[in-house]
Amino acid sequence: MKIDIEKEFPKYFKSSYPEEFEIFSHFETTSAIPQVLFAITTWKENGKPNVCFHSWSCFHGDKTAFFAVMGCLHQKTHTFSNIKREKCFALNFLPISYYNRLVNTIKHNNYEEDEFKVGEFTVEKAKTINAPVIKEAFMNIECNLKDIQDLSGSGITSMVIGQVEHISVEEEYAQGYEKRYGKDGFMMLVPAPQNLKTGDSAQSGIATLNIEMLD
Ligand SMILES: Cc1cc2nc3c(=O)[nH]c(=O)nc-3n(C[C@H](O)[C@H](O)[C@H](O)COP(=O)(O)O)c2cc1C
Repeated sequence: MKIDIEKEFPKYFKSSYPEEFEIFSHFETTSAIPQVLFAITTWKENGKPNVCFHSWSCFHGDKTAFFAVMGCLHQKTHTFSNIKREKCFALNFLPISYYNRLVNTIKHNNYEEDEFKVGEFTVEKAKTINAPVIKEAFMNIECNLKDIQDLSGSGITSMVIGQVEHISVEEEYAQGYEKRYGKDGFMMLVPAPQNLKTGDSAQSGIATLNIEMLD
C-alpha cells in the first residue's frame, strides 16, 4: 500500500525547526531524494571570494553543450547576487572530510568575510571565467550563466543554469571508481526524510557512495 501525500500541506507533518515549511515544500521531505553536495564559488563585489555550500542540482546536456542546473538557489544569498552581476560561477566538489569547513562558511557569511579564509581553502583563479575556485576540490567546473528562472514565482529561490565551459579533475581522481565514488569522492545530502506515517521530522544525512555493481 502506498501513502499518498497531496499538494496541500499535510497537517500531521512536524517541522524540525520553526520556519522549515515556511521555506521548503513538504514534498522535499516527503521525497527526500539524495543530491550531490558541492560548493559554488564566486567573487563578491568587494573583490573577496565567496563560498556557498549547495545541494539541489543536476547536470546534463547534449553533444553541443553541457549544463549545471542548480534547481534551487535562495535569492537572498550572496551567491545569487554575485552570479547575476558576474554572469558566471564555479562548482567545487570536495569529499565529506571537508563538511565542517564548508559549514563554517555559512556560520561566517558576512559580506566582509573572505570565505576561503574561513573555510581554510586555497584560492585559485578559474581558467575560463572570472571566478575563484577551491584548489582542494577534486573537481572544479567552470560555468557561464545561461539562465535564471524563479520557478515558483514567489521570489524565494531561483533555478540557476550554467553552461559548462571547463572541468578540471585532480589526477588521482582521473581514472577508476574508487576515489570519486568512495569516502574521498562525491559527498551527498540525504534530505531529512519525513516519517510519512506519524509525521515526525528527521535529520538530514550526509553520505558517500558505494557502487553495488557495474553495468
Ligand atoms: C548541506 C547544505 C546544503 C545546502 N544547499 C543549499 C542549496 O541547494 N541552495 C541554497 O540556496 N542554499 C543551500 N544551503 C544554504 C547555503 O549554503 C547558505 O545559505 C549560505 O550561507 C549561502 O552563502 P552565500 O550567502 O555566501 O552565498 C545549504 C546548506 C547546507 C548546510
